[in-house]
Amino acid sequence: MDKIFERVKELKAQKNAVILAHYYVDGNVQKIADYIGDSYYLSKIATTLSENVIIFAGVNFMADSAKVLNPNKKVILPDSTADCPMAHMVTTAQIKKVREMYDDVAVVCYINSTLELKAESDVCVTSANAVKVVKALPNKNIFFIPDKNLAHFVAEQIPEKHFIYNEGFCPVHNFMAVKYVTDIKKQYPNIKVLAHPECPRLVLDYADYIGSTSGIIDYAKASSDKEFLICTENGVCHKLVQDNPDKLFIFNDLSICPDMKKITLESVVASLESLTPEVVIDKELSEKALKPLEKMLELAK
Ligand code: 13P
Ligand code: SF4
Repeated sequence: MDKIFERVKELKAQKNAVILAHYYVDGNVQKIADYIGDSYYLSKIATTLSENVIIFAGVNFMADSAKVLNPNKKVILPDSTADCPMAHMVTTAQIKKVREMYDDVAVVCYINSTLELKAESDVCVTSANAVKVVKALPNKNIFFIPDKNLAHFVAEQIPEKHFIYNEGFCPVHNFMAVKYVTDIKKQYPNIKVLAHPECPRLVLDYADYIGSTSGIIDYAKASSDKEFLICTENGVCHKLVQDNPDKLFIFNDLSICPDMKKITLESVVASLESLTPEVVIDKELSEKALKPLEKMLELAK
């Protein structure tokens, strides 16, 4: 591992590159990253970097957003097939249809979406800022795409607005089962359940805390409790265990995002060496998708 660290350090300096990593990527990749965070943090940090090259250890929609926010930088996604299935779970035709049905509607696009969807939306959100951003919108009607679970979670907190839902979901979070949570609670009566809002409502009903990956990490660190059931992707265990060696974290072995796990130490080193595969985006699409991303950064401040 020491040899790889040295090689990464040397290559980063040589290529004027910086590594961003989402909490869901492999722990060893997190170890070599300069910045690790949730989707909101990573999109914010992407606008402040001085390096010419961004190596994005995450999935397509994250690297695409970083490129849109930095059109003059080289953005590299170490495995170009690392894609989020939920990002494709709505169509631009559906957006058009809802716009025709409602006068006063804002299309609110979870950042886990393609650039084509962002380009047709009014504002982007992440799980960390969705409530704040939607509350700040003047519109009565909100078409929340693509995630149904996050949409319902946000809607419950903003009853004054009318939500129109879409049927998208995250395959990792949506299949978190209530039976699993109740079984663990029986085994560990004092356990606290920390859940990502991409989980189904019935699972969220058992949660002591609901929030983004960073929110979950911060909550566990600040809490005086000692046992936690983590209802999100297992990559967060790296930071949780590092920050809290005295606490117990239980994860569902099935909660693994195969696309996030495509980013390996080897693929990151290969990307640093070759500066490929580069994210390339059509200029017009990029300019259109930039608007909702910038609006999110503005409203979430
Ligand atoms: P956050 O990074 O906003 O917690 O989102 C989780 C996720 O599913 C990213 O793919
Ligand atoms: Fe997409 Fe779910 Fe993987 Fe996040 S965890 S990238 S939402 S499939």
